[in-house]
Amino acid sequence: MQRLRLLLPIPILIGAALVPAAQDPVVQDPVIHDGIEAAPVLEDHMEAIELSVKRLRRSLRDATKAEESLDWVVKAEHAALAAKAMVPKMSEHVPEAKRAEFQLAYRREIAVLIEHMLTLEIALLDGDADAANEAFTALRELEEPAHARFTEDE
Ligand code: HEM
Repeated sequence: MQRLRLLLPIPILIGAALVPAAQDPVVQDPVIHDGIEAAPVLEDHMEAIELSVKRLRRSLRDATKAEESLDWVVKAEHAALAAKAMVPKMSEHVPEAKRAEFQLAYRREIAVLIEHMLTLEIALLDGDADAANEAFTALRELEEPAHARFTEDE
């Protein structure tokens, strides 16, 4: 019993060591794979999302193409996850006092985008075509207002 009491704090200490150090709540660390940042430019990830959306528009119409749809939605998820850790170009034109708030709002919106992608993935895994179409519509409806808010004309 005495021995058990001595051993008990060990998992707690290991658990505490695994919790990441307090992170900047606004800007995330870039996503790194094998020491290489996935792609350095936010636009690249957005273009990857756009390609996935185009392919999904077709594959979702065809029930025999669920595997293909799953591949495209997973590609979109990876791109969106990488995009979430990045800073939009527009940020440099946002007044400094408002910049952190802008970045937080951007991050939140990408998180919602990923949420819709995951809902779409779950619907595909369940073979639920109606739920898949609903999630896809919700996902696409984010694009225009998000671009109005987080991008600007050059
Ligand atoms: C279906 C959803 C979306 C698609 C297909 C999409 C697609 C794109 C594309 C193709 C570009 C590049 C435009 C260019 O030629 O310059 C772009 C840029 C951008 N998008 Fe999206 N987008 C989507 C959703 C979003 C969301 C939800 C956000 C924000 C939360 C967002 C934020 C941005 C930003 C900030 C840029 C400019 C890149 C930069 O600042 O470096 N997009 N997007």
